[in-house]
Amino acid sequence: MNPDQQGPARQVCLVGLRGSGKSSVGKALAALLGWPLVDTDTELTVRHGPIAKQFATDGELEFRQREKAVLAECLRQSPLVLSTGGGAVLLEANRELLTQAHTVWLHAQPIELARRIVEDPATPSQRPILAAGERAGDETELERWRREMEKLLEAREPLYAEVARQVIDTGTMSPLAAAAAIARTIAGTNAKAGSNA
Ligand code: S3P
Repeated sequence: MNPDQQGPARQVCLVGLRGSGKSSVGKALAALLGWPLVDTDTELTVRHGPIAKQFATDGELEFRQREKAVLAECLRQSPLVLSTGGGAVLLEANRELLTQAHTVWLHAQPIELARRIVEDPATPSQRPILAAGERAGDETELERWRREMEKLLEAREPLYAEVARQVIDTGTMSPLAAAAAIARTIAGTNAKAGSNA
């Protein structure tokens, strides 16, 4: 886990798998803090079109380069609540940037993530299957997404843990409760930084 640093926290980055609540927690947190909210997936969609299409047409490697450029650009802004794409932790350059902010890992069990993803109407245009491959035999869409999330969690868990200063279980917490917990931590960090100044 990324250790707390001394200075005041003016940038919060939300990381975690698809469906972990980055967008909804981000909205609630930005409202609580009164800070602007930026979502890297939204930026990427505005600039380059629907994400599933970007993966299909230009490939994942190109998407990751675009994501890296957008992340670096967004992190020039402060104060900021930044909601990132689930794979933002894959590139080392991104992890270096994320460790400099107050990065929060939103975590939930794969079956819970799969349920949210299957119910979200944005899934077909925004969420390509990355690890699970084709639907196996009589597997349902929910089971396929559960497999996808289990594989991705196994691969990415150490990367989320590396960049995070705080971990929140969004399987048991509402977006508002999660945002309030993050805002409390930020207030505590900033009060400590103020008294150390
Ligand atoms: C991805 C997550 C998506 C989006 C893209 C790739 C990933 O973002 O960036 O489909 O690699 O996990 P969300 O986590 O916002 O759905």
